[in-house]
Amino acid sequence: MSTTDDRGAGADCTIRTVRARRVWDSRGRPTVEAETLLACGATGRAIVPAGASKGTREAHELRDGGAAFGGLDVMQAVANVEGEIARAVAGLRADDQAALDARLIELDGTPNKSRLGANATLAVSMAAAHAAAAARGVPLYEYLGGAGATLMPMPQIQIFGGGAHAGRRVDVQDFMVVCPAAKTFAEALEWAAEVYRHAGLVMKERSSSLGVADEGGWWPDFASNEQALATLVQAIERAGYAPGEQVAIALDIAASELGRAGRYTLGLDARELDSDGLIELLLRWVDTYPIVSIEDPLGEDDPDAFVRFTRAAGARLQIVGDDFLVSDAALVRDAAALGAANAVLLKPNQRGTLSETRAAWDAAREAGYAGIVSARSGETEDTTIVHLAVGWGTGQLKVGSFARGERMAKWNEALRIEERLSTRATLARPLPRRTR
Ligand code: PGA
Ligand code: ZN
Repeated sequence: MSTTDDRGAGADCTIRTVRARRVWDSRGRPTVEAETLLACGATGRAIVPAGASKGTREAHELRDGGAAFGGLDVMQAVANVEGEIARAVAGLRADDQAALDARLIELDGTPNKSRLGANATLAVSMAAAHAAAAARGVPLYEYLGGAGATLMPMPQIQIFGGGAHAGRRVDVQDFMVVCPAAKTFAEALEWAAEVYRHAGLVMKERSSSLGVADEGGWWPDFASNEQALATLVQAIERAGYAPGEQVAIALDIAASELGRAGRYTLGLDARELDSDGLIELLLRWVDTYPIVSIEDPLGEDDPDAFVRFTRAAGARLQIVGDDFLVSDAALVRDAAALGAANAVLLKPNQRGTLSETRAAWDAAREAGYAGIVSARSGETEDTTIVHLAVGWGTGQLKVGSFARGERMAKWNEALRIEERLSTRATLARPLPRRTR
């Protein structure tokens, strides 16, 4: 029998078996975990997350339907891993990610993984990477990026949740902070922790402290979307940081959730806006508040407005495509040709394999776009995405707020990586600096 002694540079990375099981995510919903055993004895395990505000062009998440768990069970996806997928990948090499993922794509045979499920294929794709890293005896980020993987990502940390993650209490989905003047990842977390704490105190003083939203941000008990922005600036100041210089704001508008075909509704503000009205509002916010990044400022079906917004603000603002680009290399190239957005959110389960997600990052880099590896609102203790951010050197990481175990597992994993990199670590500084 193989032992750990077989691991290292020459370890036999042939996949022996792939198992899967149903586990549960941070919303108490079923999701897929896969576990891979290699010939050398190394194993790898990974859990797939789930979104709530999804782009329509995302790869298909296979759910069982029916009455149990709101139709969200994943026993078919689990069976697909244990049956068809396990048979097809046994004998392949876990350290040839491209060949493994190509096999998964070919086996599924549909353009969006609708037959086997992107949740089934991604679990296997990620578990294989973990197993290959274990076989070499190195952490996943180092397996992916080699000795050159020393760039720590700038974290985007949610302070107030909103949109689909907070019963649409406010329209904007994420009110986040970034720490452009922090010297290390650890320091960025320290600053975010203080802002998060002070934001909680402000809410308490106003008797607006009503717990947290899906990703751990404070529940957004505000009279308007703009009041949330003003409160965030107040929290940054009370925590003792210079807004814009030390701690700046990143937003996810998730505008595809606000309407379609260039018509947007801000329910809380009782406003109906066309594309240019929404652009005008966002530009006013950018002029008034220390905002350095806006994700999905417009709907996924509104590319022309994306172009207009990018022309108006792209030089001083990171403009991120999430639902708009769904981690898809071809969509990134199309957007770059149009001049729409200047950054892509990278969510592996939007595509269903690591290789396709990586291809979107490669396309982004080629186009001069920034990249932000991102969690989903339904998460688990799985920390794969942290390793992707460091291993691929994307320079940014978004995992939700500064509370709840499924979020903290990821921030804490990044701390361990930074400690391991020691003096070789540098914190990425991808965002425009703002002084007010
Ligand atoms: P989701 O949203 O994971 O609920 O789809 C996260 C985001 O929009 O960034
Ligand atoms: Zn988003």
